[in-house]
Amino acid sequence: MKDSHGRVIDYLRISLTDRCNFRCIYCMPEDGVCQLSHEDILSLEEIERLIRVAASLGIKSVRLTGGEPLVRKGVTSLVEAVTSIHGIQNVSMTTNGVLLPQMADDLKRAGLSRVNISLDTLDAEKFHLVTRVGKLEDTLAGIDAALEVGFNPVKVNAVTVRSLDQDFLEFAKLSVDRPLHVRFIEFMPIGDSESTGINGVGWGKQDVIPSDELLQIINERAARAGMPALKPADDKPVGWGPAKYYEFPGAKGTVGFISPLSRHFCAECNRLRITADGKVRPCLFSDNEFDIREALRNGSDDDVRDILLMALGAKPDEHHDKVGTERSMSAIGG
Ligand code: GTP
Ligand code: 5AD
Ligand code: SF4
Repeated sequence: MKDSHGRVIDYLRISLTDRCNFRCIYCMPEDGVCQLSHEDILSLEEIERLIRVAASLGIKSVRLTGGEPLVRKGVTSLVEAVTSIHGIQNVSMTTNGVLLPQMADDLKRAGLSRVNISLDTLDAEKFHLVTRVGKLEDTLAGIDAALEVGFNPVKVNAVTVRSLDQDFLEFAKLSVDRPLHVRFIEFMPIGDSESTGINGVGWGKQDVIPSDELLQIINERAARAGMPALKPADDKPVGWGPAKYYEFPGAKGTVGFISPLSRHFCAECNRLRITADGKVRPCLFSDNEFDIREALRNGSDDDVRDILLMALGAKPDEHHDKVGTERSMSAIGG
């Protein structure tokens, strides 16, 4: 499946729910308002059918996101159903990890290939500030559980925010002793994080740390700690996303950088997104959406296919520095 700019699109990201057991500042409002009703969101059967049709068009990798995908009832059965769809090679999930200690085993058995776990700070107090309700130890336990049941690779997503003053070296060092792939994501000032922020101080464009600068910061701190510098990774972990990978010599894992603002990876874009309420989103940063829920409820497979192809045809060449959206990340799925 190629879009009108010649890019091969083989990756589908599906938000299973806009609900979450956290309330991360950059992702959703404090009261979690605007939550979709049960009828608004796609049923698990509708999602499975959608993926089946998408696979027939050439989708090979599926990522389940949220909100928090693990709070969606029946998610393990969905994973099982999706992994058996002909043509789907990889089913992954982006999660905050809280429910992994109790669910990782079943998810692995159901065929989930791998997980990316969101964790922005290793400081318990800051963790609570960013997530508004979360406990650091819960997400750390989720990471342990993911490694224990044998997900491979296990990636840790850290959104970098200048005024949050994160300990980047400590984060990068998580990749040394265990096969963890730490990825630093440039904060995208979208939704209402600009007006919310922490302690009344909003996060905006000034909080974006370009990846080149971050690499330099980590290497300077590593040098001061008597450690070698990060170098481009020989082998990158399995993935369909835009991260660029580095590693410390001899480390078991890698350190990746995702740079939606400083390095436009639009030319390599390979994905379509499905929102929790059944809209196909050709681009994260464009609110141009195509309703696929109606076709899933009242149409044929051909109707579903036509909507996917229409969205494919509407993929823009790039985001043209328009970094923003009317929707919060929790509804789009990141
Ligand atoms: P892998 O297959 O493991 O590489 O997955 P991934 O990096 O695509 O998935 P993940 O959900 O972990 O995404 C990490 C974050 O990277 C996303 O949530 C976004 O913040 C950012 N990102 C991924 N894809 C895009 C994209 O197409 N555009 C922009 N602007 N950011 C993206
Ligand atoms: N900027 C950058 N990354 C974000 N994510 C959510 N909101 C933002 C934002 N505004 C990340 C989450 C998660 C992934 C799905 O998207 O931390 O790792
Ligand atoms: Fe929940 Fe993830 Fe959004 Fe945080 S970033 S509120 S963990 S969906």
